[in-house]
Amino acid sequence: MSRIRPEHRLENPLRSTLDQRVPRVAGPCGIVLFGVTGDLSRKKVMPAIYDLANRGLLPPGFALVGFARRDWEDEDFAQLVHDSVREHSRTPFREEVWKQLSEGIRFVEGDLGDADAYARLKGVVDDLDATRGTGGNHAFYLSIPPGLFPVVLENLKASGLAEDHPDRWRRVVIEKPFGHDLESAIALNDLVDSVFPPGAVFRIDHYLGKETVQNILAVRFANTMFEPLWNAHYVDNVQITMAEDIGIAGRAGYYDGIGAARDVIQNHLLQLLALTAMEEPLTLTPGDVRIEKEKVLRAVTLPREIGKHSSRGQYAEGWQGGLPVRGYLEEDGVSPESATETYAAMRVDIDNRRWAGVPFYLRTGKRLGRRVTEVAVVFKRAPHLPFSESMIQELGNNAFVFRIQPDEGITVRFGSKVPNTTTGQVRDVNMDFQYGESFVDSSPEAYERLILDVLLGDPPLFPRREEVEIAWQILDPVLDYWADHGRPEQYASGGWGPESSYDMIARDGRMWRRP
Ligand code: BG6
Repeated sequence: MSRIRPEHRLENPLRSTLDQRVPRVAGPCGIVLFGVTGDLSRKKVMPAIYDLANRGLLPPGFALVGFARRDWEDEDFAQLVHDSVREHSRTPFREEVWKQLSEGIRFVEGDLGDADAYARLKGVVDDLDATRGTGGNHAFYLSIPPGLFPVVLENLKASGLAEDHPDRWRRVVIEKPFGHDLESAIALNDLVDSVFPPGAVFRIDHYLGKETVQNILAVRFANTMFEPLWNAHYVDNVQITMAEDIGIAGRAGYYDGIGAARDVIQNHLLQLLALTAMEEPLTLTPGDVRIEKEKVLRAVTLPREIGKHSSRGQYAEGWQGGLPVRGYLEEDGVSPESATETYAAMRVDIDNRRWAGVPFYLRTGKRLGRRVTEVAVVFKRAPHLPFSESMIQELGNNAFVFRIQPDEGITVRFGSKVPNTTTGQVRDVNMDFQYGESFVDSSPEAYERLILDVLLGDPPLFPRREEVEIAWQILDPVLDYWADHGRPEQYASGGWGPESSYDMIARDGRMWRRP
């Protein structure tokens, strides 16, 4: 047998990457934030920036520039950041960290379409480079409604702010929705690509920043126990659920006209599906992971009769947490005629050898029974059960469940003999892994991880344009079908969705798991 001599061995790219245990600290840089008064900026982006500073992961001269049509001075914007940090940041407030961060806070007043305002922004950015040492490196964070992306992108280009340079970087961060359908997504991607080079575009899907989501690949590919069962021979179906107990929480302006499928299935749930179903990547480098994600997404098909295998609904008034709540059509800012769905469920199949015949059920909704996101791999029944019927009355299917949130961990469900029964009854039991019990450190917020990655120029957790476009390709026929077939069904707040959601899965002889 010929042996590969050590000097001829290909280096394992996984080992050759930087030691992942060393904390990664961003170099000199700043963020320019568009949409400073929005919910996302105040509840997620600003607190995450502070948390990064508090963990020592931002450079000492870091700068945060707010851009908005407000008659504000730097101090007014700093006050807004301060308040949102105090209210929403994960880590404790420390005066000295805040002081250092606030010294780099600037505000530029202007209309998103006003070229002069961008000239002023350029002046502020240049000044920060000179006085705070941001080194010309700036990320433009578009936390604004998607309809405003074009005007900002065009102005960033025209003002020279987006200009690439060998000794500095300019990046753009885009929040979803990336378009409204495939056609608009392509137009948006073309526009972004005409302003920034592909490596400088960071599309945020915050689910990919969650530790529990990143753990899907780790658990699947770091172990031997699971992967041999992870296929159509053993898996009966996969259920991916993202349920929320809140309503639209004052976000009618964003949500109405978008709905649950565009808001959550197009991005978060299809990403979870890709991570659950993809083949093992050659390495965990961004390029290799994306190849496998795209491959599996390309293999996704819809059932022929979309109406029978999908469901949508709108929450009606009801009770939640002991309090009466309004229905979607009574929410402030929602048209009483609105046909926007607040619940969406659909079956998809994956047309490859591993998953042939295994349905993947995706569902999401607002004002459901409780807040929970999970990926449940439900196994087939044992091919032979040497028990009498009465002994296995309480035995269900085995399941492997990634508990994404809020109770982060993994559950394995299997049958076990009930002790002290002479008849030997077998009943389902759970084996649980809880993050809190196994690890000391609490997980950073998804936005901390993602914003740091933007500043480091590290793209593996950001969907590429191809992934976004394939996801629309999957969803568009369902959205078209719904648009042509009446209105969403009403469902009671605090329940688990419309009748049609139970019917669609019952048609396949299955039931939704009760998370
Ligand atoms: C966002 C959606 O992407 O995710 C919201 O736009 C939703 O409608 C939110 O409420 C839920 O995020 P998380 O991290 O709390 O599951």
